[in-house]
Amino acid sequence: MSEEEKAPIGVVGVGWVGLVTAACLADLGHQVIARDVVEEKVEALRRGEVTIHEPGLSDLLARNSERLRFTTDMDELLDRARLLFVCVDTPPTYSGDADLSRVRSVVADLEENGDHVLVMKSTVPAGTGEIIRRDLPGVAYVSCPEFLKEGSAVDDFLHPDRVVIGASDRDRAAADEVADLYRPLGGELVMTDTSSAEMIKLASNAYLSTRISFINEIANVCEEVGADVTEVARGMGLDQRIGSHFLRPGIGFGGSCFPKDVSALKLLAGNSGYHFQLLNAVIEVNELQKRRVVSKLARHLGSLVGKRVALLGLAFKPDTDDMREASSLVLSARLRGEGAEVVAYDPVARENARTLLPGVEVTVTAEQALEGADAAVLVTEWPEFREIDWAGVAATMRHPLLIDGRNFLDAEVMKRAGFTYEGIGRPGVGSETE
Ligand code: UDX
Repeated sequence: MSEEEKAPIGVVGVGWVGLVTAACLADLGHQVIARDVVEEKVEALRRGEVTIHEPGLSDLLARNSERLRFTTDMDELLDRARLLFVCVDTPPTYSGDADLSRVRSVVADLEENGDHVLVMKSTVPAGTGEIIRRDLPGVAYVSCPEFLKEGSAVDDFLHPDRVVIGASDRDRAAADEVADLYRPLGGELVMTDTSSAEMIKLASNAYLSTRISFINEIANVCEEVGADVTEVARGMGLDQRIGSHFLRPGIGFGGSCFPKDVSALKLLAGNSGYHFQLLNAVIEVNELQKRRVVSKLARHLGSLVGKRVALLGLAFKPDTDDMREASSLVLSARLRGEGAEVVAYDPVARENARTLLPGVEVTVTAEQALEGADAAVLVTEWPEFREIDWAGVAATMRHPLLIDGRNFLDAEVMKRAGFTYEGIGRPGVGSETE
């Protein structure tokens, strides 16, 4: 059968993972039908409008438009596609467990013996696949967790470190079929059972989060003893057993995955009768890290009542407009709680910010946010912040004070520009800290 005659691949849920998966599978030469319940989103995608900010994605969608079809119709998907990549979100519920209602509604749409292969990309608690498999004895089930990062999602999909594929012995043939789809991308194939595949995803995100909380605590100790965490992380990272990735201290991790997955793994363990102590600390350290900036500001400015504080960068990291669990949310709420006036700027998350930060003035340029400010906090390390004429900006601020929450700017450059500058876990510079 030629590629064109093969059944199209179905993608259920066109969020970050779904849209990138659909676009990349099309780019690999497959016909793809992607389905979402949100009509406006599907219509926008049909018009060629990209619904998320993700480098390289618009080009990929445009280049493969012939092979991509977007629909709201689940029946069309089930009629035409056999392989169904499930990419619906599993956000945390009030209890912190993963909300599986969207996964369940996909499962409910399947017939027991519909000759479908369910490929689970959504992050689900370990054990979920086994339950679905028991409920749908005629449907093949393959766990294939997604490891892409926002901001480099297309590149991550097309150049994976590893591809994890979990299935029971019964569904080995389906697992091999999924493996064949990924084989052209390179990256080691990890063929395993369903629950282990699900655990690999949760454990990876929990471990990376643990590294961040660890280095954040090291940074806090560095501040006490006068060491520089950048040097410490560099020295640690050169040990091959440790490695240098994910040792950047800052004002906490955010996004749609780490906070949710750490909490989901902790609760999954708890629900199974095991108390995962370490993850409690990872979560607590992360929450406190977001708030430490407020005490740093207070140390320089005294009371924050009536002080104007500019937040630079609102997305949870650069190259995305996503503000889910972003440190900027906690920080702006804490500052407003202390009586400060908050003004904020982000190159792409402006629209999200207007909805998510009520009472905060959102400006169109960084310079506007900084003008007249008593202090600035660099929250997200957007490259354009290095291009700011800091000396020019210092002259427009009430106090040229900058807390660099990502250790992104050059301390000496900032000092020369007239700033009192303080990062995370390294000695500050400038008149008030010398
Ligand atoms: C993460 C995982 O990396 C990815 O494999 C998974 O599929 C989804 O979750 P993502 O949330 O897109 O991806 O972003 P990532 O680049 O991993 O950063 C997450 C958060 O950690 C950001 O807030 C970032 O600022 C923070 N971070 C990251 C640090 O504070 N220090 C670091 O060293 C690295």
